Amino acid sequence: MDKLNHIDWSENNMTSNVNKKFIRALKGEAVVPPPLWLMRQAGRHLEEYRALRAKNKNFLKFCYSPDLATEATLQPILRYGLDAAILFSDILVIPDALGQQVEFVSREGPKLDPVSKAEDLKIFDRSGLHDHLAPVYETITRIKKKLPKETSLIGFAGAPWTVATYMVEGGSSKDYQKTRTWAYQSPQSFSMLIDLLVDTTSDYLIRQIDAGVEAIQIFDSWAGVLPPGQFEQWALAPVKEIIRRICQSHPDIPVIGFPRGAGFQYVKYAKEAGVDAVSLDSTVPVEWAAENIQPICAVQGNLDNLALLAGGEIMEQEVCRILQAFSGGPFVFNLGHGILPETPVPHVERLVELVRARSTQDHG
Ligand code: CP3
Repeated sequence: MDKLNHIDWSENNMTSNVNKKFIRALKGEAVVPPPLWLMRQAGRHLEEYRALRAKNKNFLKFCYSPDLATEATLQPILRYGLDAAILFSDILVIPDALGQQVEFVSREGPKLDPVSKAEDLKIFDRSGLHDHLAPVYETITRIKKKLPKETSLIGFAGAPWTVATYMVEGGSSKDYQKTRTWAYQSPQSFSMLIDLLVDTTSDYLIRQIDAGVEAIQIFDSWAGVLPPGQFEQWALAPVKEIIRRICQSHPDIPVIGFPRGAGFQYVKYAKEAGVDAVSLDSTVPVEWAAENIQPICAVQGNLDNLALLAGGEIMEQEVCRILQAFSGGPFVFNLGHGILPETPVPHVERLVELVRARSTQDHG
């Protein structure tokens, strides 16, 4: 953190959000060169993160430590000078705060004590939600004091569908069979779980905004496994309701939706969810998205995280292709999914240089 203090970064708190590049792009402006941040920019690809993480082996405790989480959030900003920082936390703090047993096992990922029926939901208790999550709100306050004045802070949560898959499967899954069968066989009882997540996630995001985040991203990492009717019911409708509630108290805060793998349904989602932007995964053809989504809302994405890992000529071509397709409208440069731990730092440095060096003229 010492390094951060030596740079003349005035307090972020007092700066008007609306003039920041990132916010302007989300609000519909074609900003050139586009603002840039990277999903999972804070994390294991950074040696400084690995060193910090070694100070607390328990990942959830790490997330709930305002000191460590603030430093982890700022690390990629210090290294790369990106246009937005994302709060360091995890989508699984919600089940944890509700009283579900959640653990992160090294090299295996998250493990939860699974729920499978309405009866199991009785263990969940919303009464201590904000007390439990108070360290996250404190982290936001601290980050805001240290962020460069031109950098935006993004708050986030998992979408109800994606969080529900972890709660029902008991961790990561290949086929989401338990969750999807519950949703088909007993939609009424499954909607009790989704409704609980809509309530808690809305409250949680509103508190993040109260604490100082300037934009929200809702991660629906597993939306793409749902066929259209199910997508509408379990991915689109709950996110729409969360955004409606956020807008009631904070109408100006931009919201980015990330229904990863949604394919053609991105269009419906962009039209109906109430988002200011959608984050596109790398399977979405950029020319199609420029024609069909960018006129509806801002787009973010969609460099393949493996092209970044590979680096070299192929990465340069891909970056160029994306910039060219989206440069005429509102656009935020990002990956199609999170940065992989094996990604070399010089590849990220080169990416930042490429995005910043380009302007519309370069593409003719
Ligand atoms: O820069 C950032 O984006 C940091 C904040 C952040 C983390 N997780 C930190 C994290 C964010 C925004 C997330 C979101 C998240 N978490 C998602 C949605 C985005 C996506 O990637 O699809 C999901 C599905 C999770 C759940 C999760 N958290 C899993 C499945 C795992 C284990 C697998 C993995 O990537 O390690 C985590 C752990 C996790 N969350 C780590 C980090 C930095 C690695 C933990 C470590 O340091 O050991």
